[in-house]
Amino acid sequence: MKIIHAKDYADMSRKAANIISAQVILKPDCILGLATGSTPIGAYQQLIKWYEKGDVDFAQVSTYNLDEYRGLSHDDPQSYHFFMRDNFFNHINIDLSRTHVPDGSNTDAAAACAEYDRMVAAAGYPDLQLLGIGNNGHIGFNEPDDHFSAGTHCVDLTESTIEANSRLFDNIDDVPRQAYTMGVQTIMYARMIVIAASGEKKAQAVRDMCFGPVTPSCPASILQLHTNCVVVADEAALSLCPEA
Ligand code: F6R
Repeated sequence: MKIIHAKDYADMSRKAANIISAQVILKPDCILGLATGSTPIGAYQQLIKWYEKGDVDFAQVSTYNLDEYRGLSHDDPQSYHFFMRDNFFNHINIDLSRTHVPDGSNTDAAAACAEYDRMVAAAGYPDLQLLGIGNNGHIGFNEPDDHFSAGTHCVDLTESTIEANSRLFDNIDDVPRQAYTMGVQTIMYARMIVIAASGEKKAQAVRDMCFGPVTPSCPASILQLHTNCVVVADEAALSLCPEA
C-alpha cells in the first residue's frame, strides 16, 4: 500500500482526482470503478472542472459502480444511479450507456447480482477502482464479517452503516435495509485501487486497514494484499497512524 498524505478534504479530493485523470489520459477507453458517498464528491467536482477546461475527456470511458440500495428505482433521488448522474455523469461527456450501477430496481437479488457480475467480468474489470471506507472498515457495502465476500451479492446493512447513511435521508426509517454490492474479490480484481479517506471518524478504520491484521472484521484490510493500492488520506484520517 502506498499512503499519500493530504492536508484536508479539498487536498485529498484534488490528489485523488489527479490519479483518476492520469488514468483517463493514459488510457482514454479505460474502465473506472466508482463509489458514491461524501468522500468522492470533491474528486468528482475537480474532474468536472478539468473536463470543462478541456484537460480530460470521458467520451470513451466506461464505469462500474460498487453498489446500490435494493428496491430503489433508478430515478429515486436516494438511489446511487441518481447520485452518480447528479454528482458526476450529467456534468461530463461520458456516454451514459457505458455507465453501470447494480440494478436496485430488480428485487430478484440473485438475478440482479449475477447479471452485474457477468457485466463486470465481460468488461474485464476496472483499470482503476475508487473506494471510500466506512467508519467500520467496510468497502462497497461489504460489512465486517467472518469471511471475505466474492462476487456481487445482497447484504443486510449494519446498524452503524444505516445510521451513518441516514444523514442523506429525511428519516432513518427511510434508509433501505439491504443493498447489492460488488464483492471483495471483484474489488481486488481491479488493476489499481485508490481508496480515499477524510476526517477523524475514519481514523480507526484507516489504521486498521493499513496497519492491522488482514481480517474480514475489517474488510478494507485486504487491500494490503493488492499489488497496486494507493491510500489518499487527510491529516485527520491519518491521525492514528503516526508511522505513516
Ligand atoms: C459507496 C460505498 C461506501 C462508502 C463508505 C464511505 O458507494 O461503497 O463503501 O464509500 O460508506 O462513505 P462516505 O464517503 O459517505 O463516508
